[in-house]
Amino acid sequence: MGIVLRGGTVITADSEYLADVRIEGSTVSTVGQGLVRSGDTVIDAAGCYLLPGGIDPHTHFDLDVGSTRTADDFASGTQAAIAGGTTTIIDYAAQARGGTLHAALAEWHAKADGNCYADYGFHMGITDYNPAVADEMSQMVAAGVTSFKMYLAYKSLKVDDKTVFQALRRSREIGALVGFHCENGDAIDMLVQEAIEAANTSPRYHALTRPAIAEAEATNRVIALAEMAGAPVFIVHLTCKGALEAVIRAKSRGVAVYTETCPQYLLLDESCYAADGFEAAKYVMSPPLRTLTDQAALWNGLSAGFFDCLATDHCSFNYQGQKELGRQDFSKIPNGGPGVEHRLALIYTYGVLTGKITLQQMVALTSTNAAKLFGLFPRKGTIAPGSDADIVVWNPDASSVITAAAQTQRVDYTPYEGWRQRGRAEYVFLRGREVAKGGTIRQEALGEYLSRKPFPIRRED
Ligand code: URP
Ligand code: ZN
Repeated sequence: MGIVLRGGTVITADSEYLADVRIEGSTVSTVGQGLVRSGDTVIDAAGCYLLPGGIDPHTHFDLDVGSTRTADDFASGTQAAIAGGTTTIIDYAAQARGGTLHAALAEWHAKADGNCYADYGFHMGITDYNPAVADEMSQMVAAGVTSFKMYLAYKSLKVDDKTVFQALRRSREIGALVGFHCENGDAIDMLVQEAIEAANTSPRYHALTRPAIAEAEATNRVIALAEMAGAPVFIVHLTCKGALEAVIRAKSRGVAVYTETCPQYLLLDESCYAADGFEAAKYVMSPPLRTLTDQAALWNGLSAGFFDCLATDHCSFNYQGQKELGRQDFSKIPNGGPGVEHRLALIYTYGVLTGKITLQQMVALTSTNAAKLFGLFPRKGTIAPGSDADIVVWNPDASSVITAAAQTQRVDYTPYEGWRQRGRAEYVFLRGREVAKGGTIRQEALGEYLSRKPFPIRRED
């Protein structure tokens, strides 16, 4: 006995066709015509798209940022993910300065294990690189943590160029992919200090002290260091034209550079910082929202295939009590915003239905490419025999309005309040289990830890 999703349109990163999908146990057994057998559970998917479950490779759940902790933990964050059709998340574990990667991994497992509604994996943030950590990196790869992250910004996290270069060389030896938060932290720290000294303390100075050129410079630098190291590199949350141009130049000369952007950078812009009073704090994230010119460049880059992933950088803080920590000083506003729940509907509504990208591109950006880059393909990221039955039955005719009151994310606002969203995850299957139906989430934390495969090492003769 199996489950048959009957008569839907299967969308993968490279095809679109009418078919039944038969699920047996936790995996897809067959994709084809007339797959129903007696005793099967049949779900009528006619008129719906069958999408591989979304993979969000950039979340921060249950993250302590010093002054406060994110509003969403692994339970509420992954419930929101499931509600929106995302069945896998990859969260950023983070080494404490002076701490070990093993300690960070244990801490993240303690936060996530048994609490996740979606499957989950971890990247490992490195803040303190030394020979012992270089050794630990290979142990992380053995534990299924095959991607790392370094920050070029944030006083407490940023690393210097030597460290970037060393870590990239190391990643190449061990089959890992290093992601970078690209902003020139030294220049930004000076601009922030000057703004505060000049009593320019309102939220809009967050954006004014983090100019796009600081991101473009850091992106260019990281790519050059990766090219020198002969290592692949991943640029997280790319927001501006200058940084995208650096990526395009590098891709076109054969550098293994991969990148992601996020819905907020495609849909929101710097005008959000002109919001009344302290409301602009809702949009304080790093990098900040950019100009409409940057936004247009990102959409063009997405259409043209220069982006690999559409992530969310979900890092939610309540407006009341958390964002408000920075009422007197924008640099004390916790950085980040919510988004994991609305990613698929936003890109479907504002990307696919506007003709900017195809459905196949949507699947590639929201699922397949992340599975490939982060060692999960073909178990995740596609609908094919043998793959995990992580499937979203997407109803393209549904239409609703995004509101904080109606969201699953456990945060008191959404940057998309009042925005129309088309399409809905009518059913969500996680490894063959129905985990959401008609927007109602099954109240069981079925998510499993994903030990990921190493990044393929390029061979040299
Ligand atoms: O503002 C942001 N994006 N906060 C989350 C941490 C990061 O930089 O990814
Ligand atoms: Zn982030």
